[in-house]
Amino acid sequence: MKAAIVNAFGVAPALGEFRAPEAGDGETVVTVHAAPLSPIVKALASGRHYTSSGTAGFVPGIDGVGVDAEGRRVYFLFPKAPFGSMAQKSLVARDMLVPVPDQLSDDRAAAIATAGLASWVALSRRAKLQKGEVVLVNGATGSAGRMALDIARHFGARKVVAVGRNRARLDELEADVKIALTDDADQPLRAVFDQGVDVVLDFIWGAPATRILKAAAGNRASRTGEPRLRYVQLGTAAGEEIPLRGDMLRSSGLELMGSGIGSLSVREMVIGAGELLAASPAAGFESPFAGVPLAQVTDVWNREPDVRYIIQPNRV
Ligand SMILES: NC(=O)c1ccc[n+]([C@@H]2O[C@H](COP(=O)([O-])OP(=O)(O)OC[C@H]3O[C@@H](n4cnc5c(N)ncnc54)[C@H](OP(=O)(O)O)[C@@H]3O)[C@@H](O)[C@H]2O)c1
Repeated sequence: MKAAIVNAFGVAPALGEFRAPEAGDGETVVTVHAAPLSPIVKALASGRHYTSSGTAGFVPGIDGVGVDAEGRRVYFLFPKAPFGSMAQKSLVARDMLVPVPDQLSDDRAAAIATAGLASWVALSRRAKLQKGEVVLVNGATGSAGRMALDIARHFGARKVVAVGRNRARLDELEADVKIALTDDADQPLRAVFDQGVDVVLDFIWGAPATRILKAAAGNRASRTGEPRLRYVQLGTAAGEEIPLRGDMLRSSGLELMGSGIGSLSVREMVIGAGELLAASPAAGFESPFAGVPLAQVTDVWNREPDVRYIIQPNRV
């Protein structure tokens, strides 16, 4: 079968012939129509991700939309190595599939799930967002951050705060407060925390997270009532580490947690994906994407588009 193949870590995958998967007990072969090219897929193909296997010679892609052996249209997560989703066929455990609503095209469903699952499970399972709470999203201009704003509202957030480094991109977003992390951002950040923030979803970490945590420390809202600032770490686009002063924890009700593979069970992620897709037609969730035939995977691999690429293995 035709597949994208990671022949060496750090080199863009090449189109080639790969052996077709065969289903064993509890598995199904999915004919893939849409496979998202997301940051984690690139990180795994570079060998940099914390769940990397350590050996090249695999098909990349951790999720996708396609048709299973019974002819059902499904979204699937975590196909069995070495069969990733960027191939005409992938090998998937039967309990790693959820149905795709008829109203969603293959590409749209893949784009929504890959961008929205992080915040769907982080808000529902990790932060346990309550209706009427305030959510701040760091990295709101990215695919995942943009959907996090909509999903926070869907779960009943009273106010959503978008934080990012690019003012023009922030201007395009729907949020109650938008803060560009320019030199003069500390005052508006402090003002937001003084009015109360319940949950932070942080896709960026590094220096931007340090600024946000400094603004959160000692905020006025935490001196009244019972503060609980649930700060959920999701990505490290701006750096792997941050300095953390002890008083930041003491003065802010700060509860630091992560959300991802290892801090959430794989089963919960799959269930969350099913919930997200089922809710999408009525909620009107959208995540901008561009469809790309599998044959162009090498060309687009290292580009940084404004929208998520969805690789289409049924268009070679
Ligand atoms: N834990 C999870 O479950 C989970 C799930 C999905 C994604 N993630 C992670 O979250 C991060 C974002 O994912 P995505 O899908 O939204 O990616 P994306 O669409 O490529 O967006 C990247 C975001 O990171 C920002 N960014 C990149 N480098 C930065 C820097 N040095 N300083 C400040 N901001 C920076 C970008 O800002 P501009 O718009 O200004 O370029 C943009 O907002 C990735 O690290 C990804 O691995 C984690």
